[in-house]
Amino acid sequence: MKDWTGGSGSVWSTNGASNHAAGEREPNDYYATDPTAIDKLLAAERPHPFIWECAAGGGHLANRLKEHGFKVYASDILDRGYPLDVKLDFLTATWFDIPRGGAALFDILTNPPYKYAKEFVLKALELLPEGGRCYMFLKLTFLEGKARRREIFDRTPPRRLYVFSDRMLCAKNGDFEKMRETTGGAVAYGWYVWERGYRGETVIKWI
Ligand SMILES: C[S@@+](CC[C@H](N)C(=O)[O-])C[C@H]1O[C@@H](n2cnc3c(N)ncnc32)[C@H](O)[C@@H]1O
Repeated sequence: MKDWTGGSGSVWSTNGASNHAAGEREPNDYYATDPTAIDKLLAAERPHPFIWECAAGGGHLANRLKEHGFKVYASDILDRGYPLDVKLDFLTATWFDIPRGGAALFDILTNPPYKYAKEFVLKALELLPEGGRCYMFLKLTFLEGKARRREIFDRTPPRRLYVFSDRMLCAKNGDFEKMRETTGGAVAYGWYVWERGYRGETVIKWI
């Protein structure tokens, strides 16, 4: 098991984006997030100093958090060339996979694979300590849907939702340049913030 300073077991590689032919569906949903999404979040609130990026991909969010002084524990189901602390299927994670050695209180932050977003939220809330926060970069349409209402919003509403006023870029296979030249940002996103133990109303803010 690794502690917060981990990384020693990481296997560096240059695989990932370039292995996928143009147009081919990335089976594990790799869309890198524009790191300015972190800057906008931090202008609104300060997460706890220890953060688990549990679907770190190419490290776009993890890196920016580190630049802001956070201690980041990075995991992903695949090695995409970013030095992971551990290669891990987050959806099968148990108490034993929780990063140790740095702090009893930590947050979980990621842009999850969208098709498993609900499962990622539920898993994060299961693993977080009381008071720990779950920061998820998600489409605003995540608010819709009967299953999400039943399994998440009615039981554990987010404490805050930060709606991006700008369209944020989520680039397939990390190719931001191609995205800027073609579609640009066509999807509305927000930072959803859950806090383990919180059962009150959700506050919506704009960032
Ligand atoms: C939308 S990408 C986001 C990457 C990174 N968080 C970012 O924002 O730039 C989702 C990432 O989730 C990873 N992933 C997919 N299923 C996973 C799972 N079950 N456990 C952990 N990571 C997973 C993919 O490999 C991919 O890197």
